[in-house]
Amino acid sequence: MSVPPSPKIDRRAVVTAAAVAAAGMPSMSGAQAAGSKGSVAVSLTVNGEHRRLDFDSRVTLLDALREHLHLTGTKKGCDHGHCGACTVLVNGIRINACLSLAAMHEGDEITTVEGLGRSDALHPMQAAFIEHDAFQCGYCTPGQICSAVAVLAEVAAGVPSHATGDLTAPMMLDNGELRERMSGNICRCGAYSNIADAVADVAGRP
Ligand code: FES
Ligand code: FES
Repeated sequence: MSVPPSPKIDRRAVVTAAAVAAAGMPSMSGAQAAGSKGSVAVSLTVNGEHRRLDFDSRVTLLDALREHLHLTGTKKGCDHGHCGACTVLVNGIRINACLSLAAMHEGDEITTVEGLGRSDALHPMQAAFIEHDAFQCGYCTPGQICSAVAVLAEVAAGVPSHATGDLTAPMMLDNGELRERMSGNICRCGAYSNIADAVADVAGRP
């Protein structure tokens, strides 16, 4: 009896399908489908600038920013969602860009550390990091700053954290809250005290 040939499995198609399923994305045969096989056309706004790009559907947002748009302020630390070095703001909410596919961000507004301020007009959080000497090697700093900006927005919006005790009381960014909310951003140099001081300063806390 002859054995039928096993079906040829395309690893790239399998990986892409798995990523799409995990992300709950629409099928690539939808409006985003691009001409070349496996690529996706994405329109997004990065630091206030509208961009339309063709990405391989497996490209992470982090690699899209760094390798395609050459915005290298956002850093790749672990590439696995452990360190926070790749933190950026998507529609004002912080995410780890290494865990997100670029193709998921059709129409989104992305802000990286380059978009928070300019060298002649720093964002208050950037200025506070300098003022409080809140870095040593600086590798984690862009992610720390983006995270810290988002933390203040979360507190202002009343979004609780694991450290929030009384959910009915006005939200305060005390030291426990601050450190819990910043705990996804690792600093190999251990500049945590000064980082906390910088964030507290911008939050208006003594
Ligand atoms: S590089 Fe994304 S969390 Fe470490
Ligand atoms: S300043 Fe070096 S890793 Fe944070």
